[in-house]
Amino acid sequence: MTEIAFTQMKDIKEVMLSDISNERISQIILSEGDTQDHNTNLKCDMTQWKLHEKYKDVKKLSIIVQNTVNDIYRKRFVLDECWGAVYHKGESSIPHTHFPNTLSFVYFVQIPEGSSPLIFDESHKWNMEKEITEKHIIVPKTGKLVIFPSDCKHSVPPSVIDEERIVIAGNLFYLPNKVELK
Ligand SMILES: [Fe+2]
Repeated sequence: MTEIAFTQMKDIKEVMLSDISNERISQIILSEGDTQDHNTNLKCDMTQWKLHEKYKDVKKLSIIVQNTVNDIYRKRFVLDECWGAVYHKGESSIPHTHFPNTLSFVYFVQIPEGSSPLIFDESHKWNMEKEITEKHIIVPKTGKLVIFPSDCKHSVPPSVIDEERIVIAGNLFYLPNKVELK
């Protein structure tokens, strides 16, 4: 049997959001502390999985994210999960995907200078000049939203700064036209 090697380029989008109360969202995430005991792929402080159901400011952000995704793709995606994460010095996330969700996102809430990037593995970017695939490195910035297919493997290297790197991440699923949510 001949093995066919192929590389599927993934569509990773970066959008700047405005009018988000990042300070308030930071406060909420910090006040939640660590509820996962570093037992997920995130080896840092992580909130519960459905933070948008508890705080109206997070709900507001989740609606903006959902609307942004639906505007971009012109399809119906529903935001189902939304959690906060705080990376202290030395903390990281190990390579993981968000399969079997459809689309996932990371929104950078508080990004001090020198914060670790968000790294997608080498199958996600094609370097035309070198004709090779390489890592896709997202430079984090407060207010930036990153949208990616949920099966894209990604990680965050250990933080090297004293300040906290705070993000909100989450998942959306695709809702076909004739299907309605109860
Ligand atoms: Fe993730």
